[in-house]
Amino acid sequence: MRKPVMAGNWKMYKSAGETSSFFEKFAPLVASATHAEVVICPTFVNIPAAVEAARSTAIGIGAQDVFWLKEGAYTGEVSAPMLASAGCRWVIIGHSERRQYFGETEETVFKKTVAALEAGLNPIVCVGERLEERESNATEAVCGAQFAGGVGGLTPAQFARIVIAYEPVWAIGTGKTATPEMAAAAHKFLRGEVRRQFGADSAASCRILYGGSVKPDNVKGLMAQPEIDGALVGGASLDPTSFASIVNF
Ligand code: PGA
Repeated sequence: MRKPVMAGNWKMYKSAGETSSFFEKFAPLVASATHAEVVICPTFVNIPAAVEAARSTAIGIGAQDVFWLKEGAYTGEVSAPMLASAGCRWVIIGHSERRQYFGETEETVFKKTVAALEAGLNPIVCVGERLEERESNATEAVCGAQFAGGVGGLTPAQFARIVIAYEPVWAIGTGKTATPEMAAAAHKFLRGEVRRQFGADSAASCRILYGGSVKPDNVKGLMAQPEIDGALVGGASLDPTSFASIVNF
């Protein structure tokens, strides 16, 4: 049985005060949600406020990015051991916005994933095709290359600790969700890649989340697909009631 992961990616939203008030409303709404692991990923600066607010709950806190070296003269960067010591348990790596605007590549995804694992964090590694790639039937080629370059070089023991998120870029923040069947087909392909690279046991236990305009009214259909093991939620994770209803699908 794969325990679902329901993760909120807050992107560049919310102040420290807004972070605390989110948790006041959200924590009681998901207090009995033992069917899933619940994760919130605020901006770096609001990680301490989130860790504090989630202290007596089962909600895990994650970062949205990480640098691959432990320390050094790298102005503006944050390392995996720093995240771990701030109370993070999770980190999103290779989000399409990082790939699109900040030069993230398969190579940096791999280095960041290894660094996160070494620091004891659980990486959520994102893959997904752009609209023109889907339209030219390149979805599997793109996702396959992102998978191979980003996580294909991990050892089986390292791979066992990561979560994959399939996020079609055309569905992010657009209100256009992949249909449950489209998402499931991509997940099935990715699980096949896991099997090919890491074997049948890894494929059976690897959690693959769907992300891209997940909302309270479409989460049930997505989660009804046996291939879909949770959700990575942007916009709809900013509101406590809406994210709680996604968690409690
Ligand atoms: P969205 O974002 O739910 O707002 O589409 C998802 C994501 O970027 O992880």
